[in-house]
Amino acid sequence: MRHARVLLDRDFAIGDTDPRLFGAFVEHLGRCVYGGIYEPGHPTADEKGFRGDVLALIKELGPTIVRYPGGNFVSGYNWEDGVGPPDARPTRLDLAWFSTETNRFGTNEFMDWCRAADVEPMLAVNLGTRGGDAARNLVEYCNHPGGSSYADLRRAHGYPKPHGVKFWCLGNEMDGPWQMEHKTATEYGRVAAEAAKMMRWVDPDLVLAACGSTSRNMPTFGRWDDEVLEHTFELVDFLSLHTYLNNYRGDSAAFLAAPDLMDFFIEEVIAIADAVAARRRSPKRLLLSFDEWNVWYRTRRTRQDRVKEGWPLAPPILEEIYTMEDALAFGGACISLLNHADRVKCACLAQLVNVIAPIMTETGGSAWRQTIFYPFQHMSRYGRGRVLKGQVSSETYAASYYDPRGSLDQVFPIPAAPYLKLAAVATSGGGLSLFALNRDLGQPMTVAIEVRGFGALAVAEALELRHDDLGAVNSSAAPDRVAPAPLQRVESDGGKLTLRLAPASWNVISLSPRGRP
Ligand code: AHR
Repeated sequence: MRHARVLLDRDFAIGDTDPRLFGAFVEHLGRCVYGGIYEPGHPTADEKGFRGDVLALIKELGPTIVRYPGGNFVSGYNWEDGVGPPDARPTRLDLAWFSTETNRFGTNEFMDWCRAADVEPMLAVNLGTRGGDAARNLVEYCNHPGGSSYADLRRAHGYPKPHGVKFWCLGNEMDGPWQMEHKTATEYGRVAAEAAKMMRWVDPDLVLAACGSTSRNMPTFGRWDDEVLEHTFELVDFLSLHTYLNNYRGDSAAFLAAPDLMDFFIEEVIAIADAVAARRRSPKRLLLSFDEWNVWYRTRRTRQDRVKEGWPLAPPILEEIYTMEDALAFGGACISLLNHADRVKCACLAQLVNVIAPIMTETGGSAWRQTIFYPFQHMSRYGRGRVLKGQVSSETYAASYYDPRGSLDQVFPIPAAPYLKLAAVATSGGGLSLFALNRDLGQPMTVAIEVRGFGALAVAEALELRHDDLGAVNSSAAPDRVAPAPLQRVESDGGKLTLRLAPASWNVISLSPRGRP
């Protein structure tokens, strides 16, 4: 049995969670759009072709903002192809995923879908094969009321009111050689600055994110971010970062420790952004958009794999089937994001349906929740409020994590990963949410928590996600094999709480002021 202690005080806070922290991502990739969110003819589809079963699961999951249309796809995308009468839209070769893109689904369909899903849209512009001109035209098409050619085009397409898209990404992973028209930091910094300037001239209320490093092990990490900000610092609000966790080596302890590298990554990017601010003597504190994060490694593909398959329509690619173990690493990532709520004001789980996703579908068939669905749902449902700076005392372990992404074959040391990874959020109603990951694969853990400044709390809900088989997955045949169950072992006595956590378990405890539900 392991033992951990936690001290929480309502007055010791990290920051408030922004609703955009609970975002997700829809790319024109595989069956994410076609056969995922959009499938005309599906028994649950509405008149616009949006799958009702998928929409219902998305509402349960609780994403707040959804990034679109890519990802790598956006770096070759002509937004004009995806608007206007569907039958007149061109079919294109998508060089990001070696697929055929019919453009049946485009910007306006996405806006309609966001309304149906009750999420905020986030658009990425193509700063690969296109540039500032196409970007400012898209802003005009989406956000200008009328009386100009692109705004009137939108009206002619059946959308008299502007879409009012606030959050825009200036390209995607432009540091990656896999990107169409990949750029050096100087090239990208210049293009992003000019695009940002023109986009804001069209609509001054935009919130803009520049591309930071694709991952912490990019050979250019650090220098890229610094140089990009040298050009864009005054023009953008956010810098983006991405991480996909893996267990290539079958080292479960290292896999579960890996979210701690997200903590390092976030803190390093903050340091770089603040160093740029210091050089400029600027009080501005740039925000971070972790606009792609997840577990992904089994379904990675080389360009050669894609070429062999020709140019399929909505192929079933990147359909990662998530295990119980993946849900634990994923839960650790949720905790890392929550614990940086002061600077990470936006994050997007990549992606939403079928493609490395919490929701899976069969084309023409059912939809179900993958294991990773649950930690995200818990974070979105219980993570709204003020994240507390807890004092966590837990034994630690050393791990070395392997991550080949970004062309460096590297082993990353994690010298001291606490067995207990925890986030605590004070909710607006005077309650407290606890997210606790026991990373010990073999031993249960007792957690003694002292809670100050809340008055008497009562357990409103306590859930655990665990399975004897860390390889357990959900499927259409067994959709609930891995699902949360009540966590029985919670004792609350005034300001003291005791949790008994199962080995390798994700746990969420929601406490309300005593006498209130
Ligand atoms: O989410 C899948 C892909 O991962 C995205 O297209 C890209 O941005 C990243 O490399």
